Order: sequence, then C-alpha cells, then structure tokens
Amino acid sequence: MLRWRRDVRHFAPDPVAEAEMRDLLACMALAPSVGNAQPWRVVRLRSAEVRKCLAAHVDAENARAAAAYAGQLREAAYRALKLHGIREAPELLAIFCDEAAAAGHGLGIATMPEMLRYSCVTAIHTLWLAARVRGIGMGWVSILDPQTVGQMLDVPNRWSLIALLCIGYPADNSETPELERRGWQAREPLADRLFER
Ligand SMILES: Cc1cc2nc3c(=O)[nH]c(=O)nc-3n(C[C@H](O)[C@H](O)[C@H](O)COP(=O)(O)O)c2cc1C
Repeated sequence: MLRWRRDVRHFAPDPVAEAEMRDLLACMALAPSVGNAQPWRVVRLRSAEVRKCLAAHVDAENARAAAAYAGQLREAAYRALKLHGIREAPELLAIFCDEAAAAGHGLGIATMPEMLRYSCVTAIHTLWLAARVRGIGMGWVSILDPQTVGQMLDVPNRWSLIALLCIGYPADNSETPELERRGWQAREPLADRLFER
C-alpha cells in the first residue's frame, strides 16, 4: 500500500493549492511527539531570493560531497544523480526542531534529548504520507550545512535544522526508488535487517 511513497526530485510546474498546503500542514501537526512537545517549527519559503541562495548552497555542498567520491567507481554515478528539486518545486518547507521547546515540560527527554528531533521526523513522515495520498510529492534534502541554512532563514539559534522539503506534483510516478532505478542502491530484504533475541 505504501509502495508509491517516493522521494520526489522531479516536479511538474503545477502549483499546490493553498487549501492543500494548509491541509498538509494540519496533518503534519497531528504527528506524535515526545511529551506532546510538538517541537517542530516550520518555515515556509516565500522569497525567490532566499530560494536561489538555498539552491546555490545545496549545489555547492553537493559538489563537495561528489568530490569525496573522486577516483572511485561511484564518482560518475553520483554526479549524474539529481538530488534536489529546490529550483522547480512549487513549495519549499524548512523543518526545524526547537531544542528548548517549552511544551512537553521535559517529559521523555531526560535520558534521550534527541527524542525532540525524532518527533520532528515523525511529523515529516506524516506530512510525506498525507501529501502522497493527495498525489503530491515530497523530496527530503539533506545535502546542506544546517547552520548556514538556519542563518539564511534567520531562525533562533536553539532551532536545529531537520529537513529541507521540496513539495509539488511529481513529474512521474514509480514504485521503485529513483536511487534504485539509477543503480545507486536497491532496496534489500527486510529479513537482512531483522533480528531476534
Ligand atoms: C533523512 C533523509 C534524508 C534524505 N536526503 C536526501 C537528499 O539530500 N537528496 C535526495 O535526493 N534524497 C534524499 N533522501 C531520499 C532518499 O534518497 C530516498 O528516501 C531513498 O533513496 C529511498 O527512495 P524512496 O523515498 O523513493 O523510497 C533522504 C531521505 C531521508 C529519509
């Protein structure tokens, strides 16, 4: 049933209706979170100028990442991958975690403070599924320097970046991840990752 939930980097030019965006964000806010802290902070990108800067920053970080494969068999394959749709996606969201969220009153994070960030990930995945149910695609971009992006978006220091999300209608649909289709990494059997004690 979830086979169609792809990470999308190729977007059709059609805009996402404002009502759809509002619905998606409302779905996202239904996600579970540690202590019910709801530590997610969402920045919706409106500025074409900031989008341009973000795209240039991710391209630069991607070039650095590609350099790490220099001389390896995978270098050409890496450089051929499309790893973000920041310029084309009709909507961009940056999801941050408020590391000092007052809500939740510290419940559940005494020994594992990272639970606040994991809570943001549950929200992102909820948004991802809610989008795909509506035929809307989402791509998660992580090839970036979180501090640089935080400064670009002028957010408080205590917010840490969890994800940059590209949202829009997918240019195509597939039941196979793009990285698998391009020979980078196939899905492997769950049995190889399942253990019993
Ligand atoms: C935490 C996280 C970070 C990711 N970062 C990127 C990224 O920077 N660029 C990219 O193209 N895909 C990124 N992806 C998408 C994965 O490549 C993708 O989920 C994986 O290849 C499986 O494909 P599927 O989502 O279509 O099933 C990210 C996914 C996750 C969960």
